[in-house]
Amino acid sequence: MDLNQMKYGGLLLRMQAADSDAERVLQAIRAGSLDDVGQALSTLEGLGSARMAYLRGLSSLATGDIMSALNGMITYCAGDPPDPQAFHNLGLALEAGYDQSQAKNLLDMAFTCHNAAWKKDPAWPLANDALRDFHRDRLNATDRLLKKMAEQPRVVLEPTTYCHLKCQGCTRTIEDTPSMHMSLDVFRRVIDHLPARVSDIVMHGLGEPTLNKQLPEMIRYARDSGKTDVISFSTTGMTKDFSVYERCFDSGLSYLRMSVDSLDPDIAEICRKGSNVEQMETTIRKMVARGLSLEIVMVVSSFNLDDMEKTLARLDELGKFKVRGMLYLDKGVSAGNLDEAGIQRANQVFQDMKAKARQIDLTWLNHHSPSTYELCSSVSDITVDVGGYLTPCCHVYDRSIHGYLSLADHDFEEIRESDYMKKFVAQYVDQAPDFCGGCLANCRSTQRNGYPGQRSFKVPVWFNASSPVHFVERHNASRDATD
Ligand SMILES: C[S@@+](CC[C@H](N)C(=O)[O-])C[C@H]1O[C@@H](n2cnc3c(N)ncnc32)[C@H](O)[C@@H]1O
Ligand code: SF4
Ligand code: SF4
Repeated sequence: MDLNQMKYGGLLLRMQAADSDAERVLQAIRAGSLDDVGQALSTLEGLGSARMAYLRGLSSLATGDIMSALNGMITYCAGDPPDPQAFHNLGLALEAGYDQSQAKNLLDMAFTCHNAAWKKDPAWPLANDALRDFHRDRLNATDRLLKKMAEQPRVVLEPTTYCHLKCQGCTRTIEDTPSMHMSLDVFRRVIDHLPARVSDIVMHGLGEPTLNKQLPEMIRYARDSGKTDVISFSTTGMTKDFSVYERCFDSGLSYLRMSVDSLDPDIAEICRKGSNVEQMETTIRKMVARGLSLEIVMVVSSFNLDDMEKTLARLDELGKFKVRGMLYLDKGVSAGNLDEAGIQRANQVFQDMKAKARQIDLTWLNHHSPSTYELCSSVSDITVDVGGYLTPCCHVYDRSIHGYLSLADHDFEEIRESDYMKKFVAQYVDQAPDFCGGCLANCRSTQRNGYPGQRSFKVPVWFNASSPVHFVERHNASRDATD
């Protein structure tokens, strides 16, 4: 590591800009020799002990054991009360001192600091900026995400928008999505245009997949394409004719997901209007009896928080399968949102059940973490709506955002390599677009109010009629039925 660079270069400038206490220490450092640093520090009055220790650690970078000094500083930053500013500065300092020989260690530690600053105070703008700069500049997020898109992305396909329920929080209910099926022809063309290998194909969007009679044939086509080994979809589990599920498995379905927010008829009616809990239990029992792979998804909201323990206990009686809990996302019905206390409680109920459960295997997907910065499906998955159009993610089924890019008509590789996609991803890395407002899937958008449906996201200015992206077709803005 170049200590001089670290002491007097970017570090000083960044420290000066970010922290007036640090500025005083750094002036003292500049005024004397490094041996006088301790004395300079001791002349500073009124600094909290964590901050002081942090500054001492910073000075010892120049003389002592670098890694232990840094580790010590991280520990001090996390003191009581924790100091997001100190974390932030330390992260910046590490970045400033970063060089290739220490790249992995220093960047890991810088990342830890930025994450820690964010965790201490997610609303603090500097922490958000640091996360963004770090991902964008140090981790080359745009390039990595474009590469991830090429290397076995997940594909989410919407076989239908027909549904027999009116779940409160679902975009389909909120936006009153028109009902239509994807045609087998569009489905086949989309599959043909996917990369040669994809990690898995998820065959649901806004709607109940089993209502499309051609679902088993679609699964067979996807399986025979050899593009993936994993095909799944999520269902309400209320299809009375169980042979539909069996035919899907016979055609190559790997596992079935079933949405169970509650097995109490009254609560289920509040969460997922039109539910038939008896039928849901019957489906679960049959799945278990026939040894078919099942995963239950429970969306936890203010509507079912009080009931979740009872429903999890009931599920545990019904058989051996996975249960994934996830937080309700605000797509326009904010009454379902949980506050911090509610999130903690939901998490706790899950942990307690995990310890108690005899059969079910529980996982809790808590999105509220800085590590989600690049996890967002918008920039690594391929989401395709019922008409075969590319949409940003499985929460925002809005084909207009990508300018009506048809995956039925264009090869995905052509799209991925286009200037359009590079700009879209770069812009995404730089700033979460407005259509993400309120979505918990990415840590950045938790700062925002509003929900994706109320987005004010405008098709970017670089996306205009003179765009060189020759394959982008402009269609009528309305959804066109495909069969
Ligand atoms: C849109 S549904 C489509 C598949 C099928 N109709 C079903 O309900 O399983 C896919 C998943 O989204 C979940 N979902 C709907 N609204 C949600 C919300 N506001 N927050 C989080 N998940 C939600 C559903 O519970 C379901 O597990
Ligand atoms: S969550 Fe599924 S079942 Fe409920 S309205 Fe949406 S698509 Fe239909
Ligand atoms: S953060 Fe945005 S792109 Fe990502 S899942 Fe949410 S709405 Fe979609």
